[in-house]
Amino acid sequence: MKIAVLPGDGIGTEIVAEAVKVLKVLNLPLEMETALVGGAAFDAHGHPLPESTLKLAMASDAVLFGAVGDWKYDTLERPLRPEQAILGLRKNMGLFANFRPAICYEQLTHASSLKPELVAGLDILIIRELTGDIYFGQPRGRRVATDGHFPGAEEAFDTMRYTRPEIERIAHVAFQAAQKRNKRVTSVDKANVLETFQLWKDVVTEVGKQYPDVALDHMYVDNAAMQLVKEPKKFDVVVTGNMFGDILSDEASMLTGSIGMLPSASLNVKNQGLYEPSHGSAPDIAGKNLANPLATILSAAMMLRFSLNQDQAADHIESAVKAVLASGLRTADIYSEGTTKVGTREMGDAVVTALTKQITKG
Ligand code: IPM
Ligand code: MG
Repeated sequence: MKIAVLPGDGIGTEIVAEAVKVLKVLNLPLEMETALVGGAAFDAHGHPLPESTLKLAMASDAVLFGAVGDWKYDTLERPLRPEQAILGLRKNMGLFANFRPAICYEQLTHASSLKPELVAGLDILIIRELTGDIYFGQPRGRRVATDGHFPGAEEAFDTMRYTRPEIERIAHVAFQAAQKRNKRVTSVDKANVLETFQLWKDVVTEVGKQYPDVALDHMYVDNAAMQLVKEPKKFDVVVTGNMFGDILSDEASMLTGSIGMLPSASLNVKNQGLYEPSHGSAPDIAGKNLANPLATILSAAMMLRFSLNQDQAADHIESAVKAVLASGLRTADIYSEGTTKVGTREMGDAVVTALTKQITKG
């Protein structure tokens, strides 16, 4: 099983190192190869996604990804910015299905900015379409406006678009995920205004007929944003497009109070996947042994489950993380009075110890 390890920028290198440490405890034939990506790759090779990194990723069963980005690259022209690396990987690998769970861990209920009773036991899965929509729609660019309120003025434009098969395949992913959970899908759209999302709604409704055991409802994105903070536990699986999914998944992650805990998976039709924490590169705390490595460690667990068919190893990692939380260890982002504050490496070590115990127990 070949894994491309792409730590990236900022805290990426620290958190990925902990996940690799954890993976090495498992007695599995994992072949891990590391490469540069994002700003680090730009500094070394003049491009955020060098050909060699892309080739390695495409030839692997899975990619373990840290994070990319730093303010110091904000002045680069768009194609050279670190974010282009993740967009390039998604596009080239065809990673259309993005899973972003928002789970509120029992011990962390009080870390949420919402009232504990609203989030206790929260377990939502956001499924975001990742290779279409306004992110990739053509044409896009700058031009001189020929109509509108200011003809002759400089304007910028992007294209929001979805084809029927793109919607069908992500809808199937969502319904099948719901079948393994609480059998509810909420499809989020803006069909009241946008043609793209009228087609979205129509196609999701059609696909839903093949899953009579799953309850489907539709929600406009503005209402969904509101319901997510009003009554988040009403949701089970949320399926939506690339842009709305970007926004709602950040919102949902904060319900749990700890974006440092949330993993994510992005899969293609071959179940090849890219696994990364839901948070960013946090350059302000990079190199200080402060970052929470648990989201990346849990992403490695998702990788074992989704792309490498190692369910048992994934279970072991998840149990080890829960055991470490139960023992009271916390990185700064999830620290509260009465718990023990530890750094990135110490947290990784604790998971390694707990995992070793899990494995010897069987
Ligand atoms: C995410 C990020 C990316 C996105 C950026 C870094 C391009 O916000 O993965 O949610 O917008 O998809
Ligand atoms: Mg985002």
